[in-house]
Amino acid sequence: MTGNRQWIYARKPAAEVGPDNFDLKQTPVPEPKAGEVLVKTTLLSLDPASRAWMQGATYRSQLNPGDVMAGWGLGEVVASNAKGFEPGDLVSGEYGWQQYAAMPARALTRHDRKHKPEHILGALGITGLTAYFGMLDVGRPRPGETVLVSGAAGAVGSIAGQIAKISGCRVVGTTRGADKCKWIVDELGFDAAVDYAQGNLDRTIKAACPNGVDVYFDNTGGEVLEVALRRMNLFGRVACCGAISQYNTGTPSPGPFGVPGFLVTKRIRMEGFVVMDFYNRKAQAEAALARWLDDGVLKAPVDIVDGFENMPSALVGMFAGRNKGKLMVRV
Ligand SMILES: NC(=O)c1ccc[n+]([C@@H]2O[C@H](COP(=O)([O-])OP(=O)(O)OC[C@H]3O[C@@H](n4cnc5c(N)ncnc54)[C@H](OP(=O)(O)O)[C@@H]3O)[C@@H](O)[C@H]2O)c1
Repeated sequence: MTGNRQWIYARKPAAEVGPDNFDLKQTPVPEPKAGEVLVKTTLLSLDPASRAWMQGATYRSQLNPGDVMAGWGLGEVVASNAKGFEPGDLVSGEYGWQQYAAMPARALTRHDRKHKPEHILGALGITGLTAYFGMLDVGRPRPGETVLVSGAAGAVGSIAGQIAKISGCRVVGTTRGADKCKWIVDELGFDAAVDYAQGNLDRTIKAACPNGVDVYFDNTGGEVLEVALRRMNLFGRVACCGAISQYNTGTPSPGPFGVPGFLVTKRIRMEGFVVMDFYNRKAQAEAALARWLDDGVLKAPVDIVDGFENMPSALVGMFAGRNKGKLMVRV
């Protein structure tokens, strides 16, 4: 062990996040205290919410300049001061953007090696669980219904749309650019795609959803949410997963027009959720996701960037829409 490297959240972005909001710092490798485990990180997850954590408190506390940048990852135990953990164990946890982390054993999840590491961090991890519970428990799609998913070429959206297909629905996704639109249809099996960057969303979403929308899985908020509310059918469900269109700015736009009007007249249930709320049924979801992966009915696209030094540029690239599927960095 030659030393630890950490990405420090150094300066609050005034608007869009950039590499200059982070500093790379060299520190000693931490010593695990009693009850702690030293983990060498191998894969780190990139998450849009990291930008929101710089702005203020969300479902977790706000990040402050000087903090190690927060984030989830997968790693290997290299030293253990905690019962039940041995060097070589594969573990996931909230390590932050660093190469070594001393973690309380209770904050770690141990994994067996029968699944690919990128699936453990992606489709079988927070990404897949968010898509699973958000779509099935909050969206509650029924066979034959129309499901609209925004952020459909991203990590959660790509899985959420496929789960709606598995549930027997007609599934439409929104994403940016012709290439990603083609990809979600040809590779992931969506029935239609809408390029939100082309504008005219009222017309394009209406054309792609001629029977209206029964379930809208909202990853983006913003204009797609506003248009989706206009297209919702009676007793439709909106599963509010996130609002990526509003994170990367110092001035998020006001909420969509149509709340509460459309909710009342169309009897829409609009419900936010955080994946951890469902963790009492985590094992059930993991088993279903693993079965779908094994059976080949679920694809788990991953976008892996090589090199710890590329963490900030990978985050910036995510907001530019450079990733297809789950974005992670190989440390
Ligand atoms: N509720 C929960 O428990 C929970 C858990 C995990 C994640 N989430 C939320 O789920 C959503 C998706 O997260 P993810 O991890 O799957 O990330 P992701 O979708 O892979 O995120 C990146 C994608 O977001 C799209 N994007 C970026 N800026 C945008 C903008 N201004 N407007 C519209 N789309 C934009 C880009 O795709 P395009 O090329 O299509 O623009 C980009 O590739 C986020 O809102 C996140 O906060 C919620």
